[in-house]
Amino acid sequence: MPALVAPSILSADFARLGAELDTIASADWVHVDVMDGRFVPNITIGPLVVEAAKRSTKLPLDVHLMIVEPDRYLEDFRRAGADWITVHAEACTHLDRSIQAIHATGAKAGVALNPHSSEQPLDYVLETLDLVLVMSVNPGFGGQSLIERVFPKIERLATAIQKRGLKTLIEVDGGVKPANAQRFRDAGANVLVAGSAVFSATDRAAAIAAIRG
Ligand code: DX5
Ligand code: ZN
Repeated sequence: MPALVAPSILSADFARLGAELDTIASADWVHVDVMDGRFVPNITIGPLVVEAAKRSTKLPLDVHLMIVEPDRYLEDFRRAGADWITVHAEACTHLDRSIQAIHATGAKAGVALNPHSSEQPLDYVLETLDLVLVMSVNPGFGGQSLIERVFPKIERLATAIQKRGLKTLIEVDGGVKPANAQRFRDAGANVLVAGSAVFSATDRAAAIAAIRG
């Protein structure tokens, strides 16, 4: 099964964001990595840049919040143009409440799991989720190598989603490239995020097509 491809603008040239977005117009979504320097060591972008990206692309914006207390900013990111909002399970004490709060903004709701996190805490919220984001690197930076140990987690989630007859999408983020994309698709991933593999490619459309499968 082909996957949806979501290039991460973390690896784009922010001085020319509009032109960079034009080069990935053949993708399915645009992945936006929001980092606060607290949940992860790095600091990246906020609603202002999301709003600028929204004006520069027709693709849905897939906003990945790697921040503590994400509930405080859900409305801001939705207003800026986020179509999908994903929070980290590890950052939410009241995960069910955060998912409800995302839906209340009108956005699709996702929950991300760090490489060390079990899918078990999603057991009682899976029905309410539009997306589960499986991190295949430790979040914070682009260009890292994938952690092989995440494959069984993707498979277990895919089985659980299928058994319950849900439409929840599985997204994988970190170290995805044309050479390994098929392994993620075979494990059950529906959406593949790729930052460095797309933006460092000389032919970005070809990289997107190869990752899609
Ligand atoms: C990592 C981010 C990823 C990252 C992926 O913290 O969530 O989206 O940009 O980058 P690559 O594809 O280069 O591993
Ligand atoms: Zn991401």
